[in-house]
Amino acid sequence: MTVGCIIPAAGRGERMGGGQPKALRTLAGATLLEHAVRAMAASRKVTEIVIAAPPDQVTSIVSLMSSLRIDARIDVVAGGDTRTDSVRLGLAALPSTCTTILVHDAARPLVPVDVVDRVAAAVGDGAPAVVPVVPIVDTVKQVDEAGQVVRTVDRSELRAAQTPQGFSAEVLRNALSTASLEATDDAGLVEQAGHPVLVVPGDEEAMKVTRPLDLLVAEAIVRRRSGRVH
Ligand code: C5P
Repeated sequence: MTVGCIIPAAGRGERMGGGQPKALRTLAGATLLEHAVRAMAASRKVTEIVIAAPPDQVTSIVSLMSSLRIDARIDVVAGGDTRTDSVRLGLAALPSTCTTILVHDAARPLVPVDVVDRVAAAVGDGAPAVVPVVPIVDTVKQVDEAGQVVRTVDRSELRAAQTPQGFSAEVLRNALSTASLEATDDAGLVEQAGHPVLVVPGDEEAMKVTRPLDLLVAEAIVRRRSGRVH
């Protein structure tokens, strides 16, 4: 099984503020993107990585990546207007020999290698699509436009979806070629295309860095991992 990885990193990151693409925000001395690439390459299964970059940052990201000493081959392409477009463009640049494809958000810089391996292994074992998930800790309310609660959703049935999400190459290609589909994650596209999606345990540390507070939490995780705080 040859495992390729697409890292969509072309988002503007408006919820984060700071006026630069979120993937290029710094966390403990390196960009979120460098952390995410290292985290994926930490899995020996991953041999090819394609980054979908903000179109005006392709050259700078190529030089950023040339200083990363990792074994996987890295390619950088211009991303698209939506996340799904960025994944489509990334997929087109992956070698056709990749039979398993992992799609991982640049905004999840600290995903543990166990999660990456778990997802890749489940695809290797025959699942067409695999999503790492964690339980929801908050009680979730469905609300209407007037600000009234419509209902309280049964939390025990809900999971928060993380990345990397894993796919057989054929299933992802098929879902992405259905041009009308849009979703906030790739498994959503695959579900809409009618394929079963398996869940495996995710990890709190695969958190998405979206708002400024998330960066503080991510910095604390890096400090703890480097042994400076226990
Ligand atoms: O906006 P959100 O946090 O959901 O974005 C998830 C990931 O998708 C981020 O890594 C972001 O850079 C990427 N993205 C992209 N192209 C877009 C929009 C988002 O690659 N047009």
